[in-house]
Amino acid sequence: MAKMWQGRFKKELDEKVNDFNSSISFDSRMYINDIQGSIVHVNMLGKQGIIDEKESKIIAKELANIHDDLLSGKLEIDPSAEDIHMFVEQVLTQRLGDLGKKLHTARSRNDQVALDLRMYLRTQIDEIIGLIKKLIAVLVKKAEENLTTVMPGYTHLQRAQPITFAHHLMAYVEMFKRDMVRMFNCFDLMNECPLGSGALATTTYPIDREYTAEYLGFNNAMLNSLDGVSDRDYCMELANAIAICMVHMSRLSEEVVLWCSWEFKFIELDDAYSTGSSIMPQKKNPDICELIRGKTGRTIGNLTTLLSMMKGLPLAYNKDMQEDKEAIFDSVDTIKLCLSTLAPMLDTMKVYKENMANAGKKGFINATDCADYLVKKGLPFRDAYKITGSLVAICIDRGETLDTLPIEEYKKLSDKFEKDIYEAISLEKCVNERNAIGGPAPQAVAKHIEKIKNTVLKEEDNED
Ligand code: ARG
Repeated sequence: MAKMWQGRFKKELDEKVNDFNSSISFDSRMYINDIQGSIVHVNMLGKQGIIDEKESKIIAKELANIHDDLLSGKLEIDPSAEDIHMFVEQVLTQRLGDLGKKLHTARSRNDQVALDLRMYLRTQIDEIIGLIKKLIAVLVKKAEENLTTVMPGYTHLQRAQPITFAHHLMAYVEMFKRDMVRMFNCFDLMNECPLGSGALATTTYPIDREYTAEYLGFNNAMLNSLDGVSDRDYCMELANAIAICMVHMSRLSEEVVLWCSWEFKFIELDDAYSTGSSIMPQKKNPDICELIRGKTGRTIGNLTTLLSMMKGLPLAYNKDMQEDKEAIFDSVDTIKLCLSTLAPMLDTMKVYKENMANAGKKGFINATDCADYLVKKGLPFRDAYKITGSLVAICIDRGETLDTLPIEEYKKLSDKFEKDIYEAISLEKCVNERNAIGGPAPQAVAKHIEKIKNTVLKEEDNED
């Protein structure tokens, strides 16, 4: 395709440089946004009398045709075009002749690309929020099924105190809830319209920036044209929100990998979400989790790419910024893929409650409660802690647990111990008594679940 900026050049662009310069292979995905932006732009040109109103209508109509033809496959993207903006304008000019050449009046590709990218990313954020919601819904459902499923809670991956599987899952709900808020915030911050910034200094034509901002669904027109064309905060911000959400998915994936190992066997993944080994017939591998964990790396990389791409750029537009798209598109694609695979994988997993309970019995996770028993009987916590530590050591020597150790052994260390110690350190009781806001007691977790259902998940009901 001939270049639209050829005027001042005496030679054709070198073929390799053309390819090097081109972004069509990755920016063509924004064609819907590009055409939508152009239609509103040309309507504004007509309304303002910058071009003839009738002509503006013909251009808008043809842009809509181009949109439909691209959607139906009647028109194919030309890979030799420089970018999607040039491509659409070139097709328009082929179809309308000189009239097509009027579209770019009072506009630059610099404000055009900034506009398209914001519009495209807005739709992506909406999709991501929908997917996070679905994941939260699955986690909440699983939590409801496991309100009383006692398991060990860990610190340093050592059994620490008793919790429930519901409590554990709801921790992730909180993380994904914050991810949703980050996505909403990102949307809000990017929802300002750069169109009309021109190349960098607006234009001398009497454009109406409030009109275009409003018709394209933005809160307002951006207040500085240099910022309008050179701001990529929204890419960095979204890449950051995505990377954090991926880190959350990665941590959950890591736990699932552990949980479905023979060493834990807390859960089993559905066959449809596991893979086998080409050599070891017994294997059932949690590849999905490993891939999510692995792919988190590239989203962190994309954030780094964007931050380092921007950090040295003088105002306003620089071609470096064309590099924004591959990075942010990759993050967007990756998170969508991961969210939509993780949710059904968790939904279909089998939970082995017995194994969780058994793990709970073996790890002295009621030792804190044993010490608390003595504190309630008047001992200072540090003394109670020391006595319980000695009891644990005796249990380890004898191959017992605190639940099986005879009362005589208890009494040897403190006369405060009575038979009711066994009741006090039963795992169910230890969990039930942790009833503070945020605690693992079924009552506390049930309240948390209700809150999530009435807030985060409520809108989804309305949408369906
Ligand atoms: N393909 C370019 C990009 O993605 C569009 C803007 C080009 N502007 C320019 N002054 N060369 O950034």
